[in-house]
Order: sequence, then structure tokens, then C-alpha cells
Amino acid sequence: MLYLGNVAFTSRFLSEQAYNTQKKLYIWEKFMTMAKKKIVVFTGAGVSADSGIATFRDADGLWANYRIEEVCTPEALKNNRAKVIEFYNLRRKESLTKRPNAGHLAIASMQEWVDVVVVTQNVDNLHEQAGSSRVVHLHGELMKLRSERNPDLIYDINDGWEQSLDERGEDGALLRPHIVFFGESVPMFDTACKIVANADILIVVGTSLAVYPAAALVYYVRDRQVPIYLVDPGNPDTAMIRNPLTHIKERGAVGVPQLVEQLRHELAE
Ligand SMILES: NC(=O)c1ccc[n+]([C@@H]2O[C@H](COP(=O)([O-])OP(=O)(O)OC[C@H]3O[C@@H](n4cnc5c(N)ncnc54)[C@H](O)[C@@H]3O)[C@@H](O)[C@H]2O)c1
Repeated sequence: MLYLGNVAFTSRFLSEQAYNTQKKLYIWEKFMTMAKKKIVVFTGAGVSADSGIATFRDADGLWANYRIEEVCTPEALKNNRAKVIEFYNLRRKESLTKRPNAGHLAIASMQEWVDVVVVTQNVDNLHEQAGSSRVVHLHGELMKLRSERNPDLIYDINDGWEQSLDERGEDGALLRPHIVFFGESVPMFDTACKIVANADILIVVGTSLAVYPAAALVYYVRDRQVPIYLVDPGNPDTAMIRNPLTHIKERGAVGVPQLVEQLRHELAE
């Protein structure tokens, strides 16, 4: 007797061929049900912490040596262009030495059995390096530059890490890091809201839920039934979340693979 879920198949009553066909159909149906599930993973600086990239709030992190107003605002770019370009050149150079950790890899692995979209606040490309194929960057991408005049003219930095001060786009305008600075609008926010509104399950990893509007994404889930899983060793601001919330108080590299394994089993039942 073979039990698959609640269904019992017995080869005594079925010919071997019919039995194998039933079994294949059952496995296929299970696979299709899982494949239709939509999981959205919303990540912040914490998911890359185990890869050695400092978070925003780490006391000894990269931001400890810089004031946001000096390097991460449109005014800074206008008044102190060299310092801003240098800051992002150093971040880019540093990021070339970083590799995805077990958290990024576990997120990417879910693509084999569910529909997954990653919405990240991070500007690094560790989700892509891990193999995630659908990644929305809310705050821009470190490895890209864009025209100061036309935000749709975006260029990959193909060789190395360095942006020179006088680099220009095809429109003749100076290029700037493809980063959403504090005080600027977040063009991908509406897209991200629609993605979150489609989720059957929302997984949140490594974000203090303190930087808006990104932090508000957790309120765009379709209804109060959608479960939210949070993996973060700290205490993100979850006071206003009304959905079923499971907080896994672990580092991303530990908690995310555990959660992914748990969901894989639960969804297969
Ligand atoms: N890697 C990056 O691209 C990077 C790095 C620093 C900052 N940022 C930017 O700074 C802003 C900061 O907001 P934020 O909420 O993403 O970061 P944050 O610094 O405000 O919060 C980081 C969160 O990560 C958690 N954390 C720390 N170590 C962790 C670990 N090992 N595993 C999992 N979680 C861990 C902390 O408890 C905290 O809740 C974002 O806009 C982001 O774009 C990006």
C-alpha cells in the first residue's frame, strides 16, 4: 500500500500501469498546486549582513563613518559630487568581494517549486548572484549608473567598480549612481505594492521596517489571512502588522534556510 497524502493506492487493485499513472498524476497535481503559490520575499540590509555587508544601523557599519546628508542626498550630489561618487565607488569595490550567503541561496532555491518574487531594499546584487531571477530593487542598484537628466537612461558598470567624475550618458548629461537618495521618490514602489498584493505568503528578512515608504510594503498584502514570516535577529517594528506573524529570531543565513525547508514540507502536504 502506498500512501500519498490522504490517498491510498494499492497495486493489488490496480494494474501496475494504472498505478504508476495515478502516482504520476498525483505528484504532478501536487507540483502544480505548489507552483501556483506566490511567495514574495521582502529583504533589507540584514539579508546581506551574513555576507559581510554592514547594515544601515550597525554601530560599526559603513554608515558610522558618514553622515547621510554627506553622501546620500540629492543636495550632496549637487554640492559635493566628488565625495558622493567616491563613497559609491568604495561601496562598489567592496561589494565585488562579497558572495551570497545561505539565506540568499535558500530564497533562490524556492523558485524550483513556487512562484517567487524578491523585493529588496538592498543595492547589492547578491540575490541575483544567488540565482534569483525576479528581483525588484526599490532603492536602486550599486552596479548601475544613470543619467542625471533622464532617469530612464541606465547603464551597467561592466568593468570593475569605478565611476569617473566626468562620465556622461548618451544624452550628454553627467552620470550618477543608480541609487535612490534620501528625499527622492521611490519609482519602483508602486510595482512592489502590486507584487506584494499578489502574495499568498510574505517573507520579510533583515529589515528594521524603519525606512519609508519601503517599510509600508508589509501593509499591502491582499487580506488579513496572508501569513507573514519575519527572519531577523533584532526587533523590527511590527506593531501595526495585523496578519498572522511568525518572527524567527535568527540570522538570515540560519533562519531563512530553516523557514524555506518548513514551507516546502507544509506546501507539499
Ligand atoms: N546591502 C545593501 O545593499 C545595504 C546595506 C546597508 C544599507 N542599505 C540600505 O539602507 C536602508 C536601511 O534599511 P534596512 O531596513 O534594510 O536596514 P537597517 O539597517 O535599518 O536594518 C537592518 C536589519 O537587519 C537585521 N539584521 C542584522 N543582522 C542580521 C543578520 N545577520 N541576518 C538578518 N537580519 C539581520 C537588524 O536586526 C535590522 O532589523 C535600506 O534602504 C537599504 O537600501 C543597503
